[in-house]
Amino acid sequence: MEELGITELKRLTEVIHQKFGYDFSGYAMSSFKRRITRIMELKKVNSLDQFIQFIETKNLTKEDFLHEITVNVTELFRDPSFWRVLKTVLPKTTLNSPKVKIWHAGCSSGEEVYSMLIVLKELGMIDMVEILASDIDSSILKKAKEGKISLRNMELNEKNYIRYNPTGDVKQYFLYDNDYAYFSKELLSKVTFKEINLVNLQPFAKFDMILCRNVMIYFNQNLQNQILKTYHEMLQMYGYLIVGTKESIIWSDSANKFLTVNTEEKIYKKYKD
Ligand SMILES: C[S@@+](CC[C@H](N)C(=O)[O-])C[C@H]1O[C@@H](n2cnc3c(N)ncnc32)[C@H](O)[C@@H]1O
Repeated sequence: MEELGITELKRLTEVIHQKFGYDFSGYAMSSFKRRITRIMELKKVNSLDQFIQFIETKNLTKEDFLHEITVNVTELFRDPSFWRVLKTVLPKTTLNSPKVKIWHAGCSSGEEVYSMLIVLKELGMIDMVEILASDIDSSILKKAKEGKISLRNMELNEKNYIRYNPTGDVKQYFLYDNDYAYFSKELLSKVTFKEINLVNLQPFAKFDMILCRNVMIYFNQNLQNQILKTYHEMLQMYGYLIVGTKESIIWSDSANKFLTVNTEEKIYKKYKD
């Protein structure tokens, strides 16, 4: 298969932008290249020209393309120690507002949101929150809304939960059949799901907490900087910003407007306009 260099990838992002309306020029090119190569292998396409032709002749729909290009890997209680720390932070959000507004940006198939709902339920805070969960990928959002997890994945999810809370029982939040676990409809009803692209994001509301974990890792520094600036604008004063444990904001232009609440778990607090 043809090796894709920077020039080819640039040409491809232009075609994708034109055809599907999504601008991938701010994505980290190494992972973007890996995903493109994977799609080309899957579709048995050998060269860039063939791939462009494939896109242009509608052999690849916008939805299919987005689903293949994005990395949707997620887990319930991913990084269990993060959730233990978050449980101590969440009650502090009620000091700012009677209704706590939380946004999960890049929620994938929803496991992060379900984890949040479980923690809020355990804290007795479930009726004090408004939750927005968003992703660019409409097919993964549909899955998130359904609250359906295959039993294959539940093994790891249950292990994560035990690491977060050794005395708890995560099964009480699910109904099970032979193949799937179905997340509590009552808890799920607290969430609004919405398709939102973080590229060219404009402020649309104010939040007390924004979680954007393991999403910006796929973007270059320029795009991360732009998004972090917008998140800062979209947070209430003393609101929390949370990124993935392998990510950070301390290098960014917005860093001096946040305090670090927890270094390992990447929890930050806005303290300057
Ligand atoms: C690895 S998942 C992270 C899921 C969850 N936050 C977690 O940490 O487990 C990354 C998600 O980011 C989404 N994503 C990628 N580019 C995006 C964009 N431009 N706007 C919004 N979401 C995006 C992907 O569709 C994917 O569902």
